[in-house]
Amino acid sequence: MIYTLEKIAPKDYEGNMVFLYGDETAERSLPLSKKETALVKIRREENKEFLLSFDRLPFRLYFLSFDSEKAPAEVQESLRRSAMNLLKQFEADRVEEVAVCAEGTLPEEVAALLEGLSLADYSFDRYKNKPPYHLQKVAVDTVYFKNKELEAMQHLWNRIFWCREWVNLPVQDLNAPAFADELASIAADLEGVRCTVMDKRQIESLRMGGLLAVNRGSVDEPRFVVLEYDGTSTTSRTSKTSKTSQPICLVGKGVMYDTGGLNIKPEDYMQEMKSDMAGAATMASVLFAAADNHLPVHLVALLPLTDSRPGFNAYAADDILTMYDGTTVEVVNTDAEGRLILADAIAYAVKNYNPRVIIDAATLTGAAVRAISTFGIAAMEQNGRKELEMLKLVGEQVYERLVEFPMWKEYDELIKSEYADLRNCGTTPQAGTITAGKFLARFAKETPYVHLDIAGVAYFSKAQHCWRPGASGYGIRLLYAYLQMQ
Ligand code: BES
Ligand code: ZN
Ligand code: ZN
Repeated sequence: MIYTLEKIAPKDYEGNMVFLYGDETAERSLPLSKKETALVKIRREENKEFLLSFDRLPFRLYFLSFDSEKAPAEVQESLRRSAMNLLKQFEADRVEEVAVCAEGTLPEEVAALLEGLSLADYSFDRYKNKPPYHLQKVAVDTVYFKNKELEAMQHLWNRIFWCREWVNLPVQDLNAPAFADELASIAADLEGVRCTVMDKRQIESLRMGGLLAVNRGSVDEPRFVVLEYDGTSTTSRTSKTSKTSQPICLVGKGVMYDTGGLNIKPEDYMQEMKSDMAGAATMASVLFAAADNHLPVHLVALLPLTDSRPGFNAYAADDILTMYDGTTVEVVNTDAEGRLILADAIAYAVKNYNPRVIIDAATLTGAAVRAISTFGIAAMEQNGRKELEMLKLVGEQVYERLVEFPMWKEYDELIKSEYADLRNCGTTPQAGTITAGKFLARFAKETPYVHLDIAGVAYFSKAQHCWRPGASGYGIRLLYAYLQMQ
């Protein structure tokens, strides 16, 4: 989709138009007849949120009314969501180009609608012989944004698009080596981003016992990808400390496909497990978006990539692994593979980067989905109170919300092993999300650490809000907004 900035006078605009109407201050510029204005008044008395469509042959006028009296985050979210209805209407009317205009509406409200259109217009099409409907062009009135502002928003939305595309790609077409190559080629073209791809031999010499164990049943080699972007060294050239600024480390679970391994997933539980690399895709996308828009932050993304299969010399329950930092782990269930590859990446961050904070994103537990369904992220912290509070706050603003789970010391007992330092899943099936978070926190040691379990939100089986079925890119807007606050 292309966005352009144009001067748009609603009353004499020649083209399809979406008119955003938040309150009566817009009345002066209403492109409606007296009768239609009366109809709008009646509808608004019943409910402030509605969509009307008027024929203006050869064009159409979409009148989108919203309730500007709600809290700002609620207003923006309702506009984001109305985008899906709008798109359905566009499709029915075969409308491919529209202008968005408004009066008395705030730029962030217009931005929310554009964001919703961008999220809602995405669908995973590349295996379809006949491409489905898409909105082609959206023109926006110049009063709302400067060129640079619209461009920055588009950069972010484009990264979300690509994250969703990667997550939706089946493992046949995106395995660990292919994904690593893709990330490296993007990094090569992006100013200020460095990419290091470690292959199996290098991962072996680093002794990443978790990543290697999970990979043992696969024909495809693992990769460990490190992306670095430092926007602090250029913005503060005068400051001598900028060179050594502590990075924010972003760790992402990159299980390209999760069969469960020898504890193979039964029945239809395996379906959609191509999305088990959504954490890695999210973190790479956040770093790329920060680099696109030159955010003044120092980021390192650490992405362990492999699929998990029961083939060959696959790792087995009862195996005892030695992780990157020397911790030993008893494998109790090979399907709790995410924490094994993440533990190595978190320990690697602690040892090599002196991080200000480590944040991970992972489709880690089915228990997170059972606890809160598909409406938010299950979050935990260790020495990361300030960071988690900030994430919760921006989460409410962008409506990618976090709910905090406890990290009480009692849970530590559940991951103690009889034969090793830790076991890879709890002694009871209860509190599965928390025991997973507890396991990971051990590897962060003293470093401020925030864990984001995105199992419920990374991939939607059914359409939800402004997302069609499939990968959502949920979490990118959250983390980007968090970085903007640094
Ligand atoms: N990738 C899954 C978690 C998952 C489940 C994500 C459903 C998205 C939707 C993870 O690797 C897994 O299998 N976890 C197990 C852990 C258990 C064996 C301790 C789970 O949650 O059942
Ligand atoms: Zn699993
Ligand atoms: Zn998994």
